[in-house]
Amino acid sequence: MTKNILVTGGAGFIGSNFIRYLLSKAGDYRITNVDLLTYAGSLENLKDLPHPEKMEFIHGNVCDQPLMEQLIEDRQIDTVVHFAAESHVDRSLQGPAAFIQTNLVGTFSMLEAARKVWLQKGLIDMDKVRFHHVSTDEVFGTLAPGDPAFHEDTPYAPNSPYAASKAGSDHLVRSYAKSFGLPITISNCSNNYGPYQFPEKLIPLMILNALHEKPLPIYGDGLQIRDWLYVEDHCDAIWIILQRGEVGESYNIGGENQPSNLEIVRTICKILDEKAPRESGLPHEDLITYVADRPGHDRRYAMNITKIRNELGWEPKLQLEEGLRSTIEWYLSNEDWLQAISKEKNFQDWVQLNYEAREKTLGGAE
Ligand code: NAD
Ligand code: DAU
Repeated sequence: MTKNILVTGGAGFIGSNFIRYLLSKAGDYRITNVDLLTYAGSLENLKDLPHPEKMEFIHGNVCDQPLMEQLIEDRQIDTVVHFAAESHVDRSLQGPAAFIQTNLVGTFSMLEAARKVWLQKGLIDMDKVRFHHVSTDEVFGTLAPGDPAFHEDTPYAPNSPYAASKAGSDHLVRSYAKSFGLPITISNCSNNYGPYQFPEKLIPLMILNALHEKPLPIYGDGLQIRDWLYVEDHCDAIWIILQRGEVGESYNIGGENQPSNLEIVRTICKILDEKAPRESGLPHEDLITYVADRPGHDRRYAMNITKIRNELGWEPKLQLEEGLRSTIEWYLSNEDWLQAISKEKNFQDWVQLNYEAREKTLGGAE
C-alpha cells in the first residue's frame, strides 16, 4: 500500500536528510515536500536524490493553511512529518518575529489543515493517519552539572525565543490530540550534525572557518555542553517512531555524546590538521577566538533516551569522532554544494556581522 507523506521543511538540513533516507529505503512512498526556501532552505540539498520521481517539491509556506489543506486532500496524505521551522537560536535573539510566525502559527496552520481533512471531512482512513512533530531538547531549558538528563516528563522551561516558540508548538500539537483526537507523535531531539547543515551552526561553521583561515568563535568560556547526534541517526529514530511509536506520545532522541563546545572544536581542528593541513604548518586550534557569550546561553543539555531505546528499540549508531570525520570528509568533497549555497544565500555576511558584534561586546579581548 502506498504511503503518502507530506514533509514540511524538506529543503532544510534535517528535512532533506530525512527525504534522502526515506527514498533510499525499499517501500512504496510518495513524498510531497513543502518548503518556503528561506535563507536556510535550498534545492541544492535535494540534488542527486535516489528515486527523485517519488518526491514532488512544492514551494509554499506552512502558514498558508488553505494550501496545506489542499495538499493533504489532493495528495491523499496519510502522514505529516513537520520539520519546517526557524531553527537558529542566535537569529531568534536578533529577530524573534519570524520564529513566532513559522514555529507557532505555522504549526497551528498544519494542525488545522490536518484536522479539517482527516477529522472533519473524514477523507482518509483514520487508522492510517499520523501527524509527527519534530521538536528539540531546548524546550526543557538548561541543566546544571550533575543534574539528571532530560526525560519526557521534565517540565518545559525554554530560555530563548526559539526554544519558547518550539515549546509552544509542542503544546499546540499535544492539545490537538487531547481536544480533537488527532493522532500525533512528538520527538524532542538534541543537536544534529552531518551533511547539508547550513554553515551558521557550530560544526559546519568551524569546519569552513578553519579551512578559510578565519577565527573560530567560541561563545563565553566554551564549556557549554550539547548532546550531539549524527543526522542519519535522527532520521532513523523518526522513521521508527512513525512505524512503532504510540499515538499521543512524545519521545526523546539524543546521541549520548556530550563533550563541551571547546572539546568539539578541538576535535574538528585535530581532524583537519590530518586531512587538510594549513599551509603555515600551524595547528588549526590556533584560530580559536573567545567572543562574547550568547545571551541566556543554556549551559548543558543531555537527553535520557531510555524510553525510545526500551519501547521502540532505537539507539544512536555513530559515535561522535566517527561522525565528525565523515562530516568533515563530506564538506571537503562537496565544494560545489558550498559554492552554490554561498552564491545563493550569501551566509558569510550574517556570520561575519554576528562575529563582529560578539567580538565588539567583549571589547576585543582575547
Ligand atoms: P533548517 O533551518 O536547516 O531548515 C528549516 C527548513 O524549513 C528550511 O528548508 C526552510 O526553508 C523551511 N522553512 C522555514 N520557514 C518555513 C515556512 N514558513 N514554510 C515552509 N518552510 C519553511 O532546520 P533544521 O536544522 O533542519 O531543523 C528542522 C527541524 O528540526 C526544526 O523544526 C528544528 O526545530 C528541529 N530540530 C533541529 C535540531 C538541529 O540540531 N538542527 C535538533 C532538534 C530539532
Ligand atoms: O539542541 C537542539 C538544537 O540544536 C536545535 O533545536 C536547534 O535548531 C539547533 O540550531 C541547535 O541549537 P544550538 O544553539 O545548540 O546550536 P548552535 O550550532 O548554534 O550552537 C551549538 C553550541 O555552540 C552552543 O552552545 C553555542 C555554541 N557556539 C555556536 C556558534 C554558531 C559557539 O560557541 N560559537 C559559534 O560560532
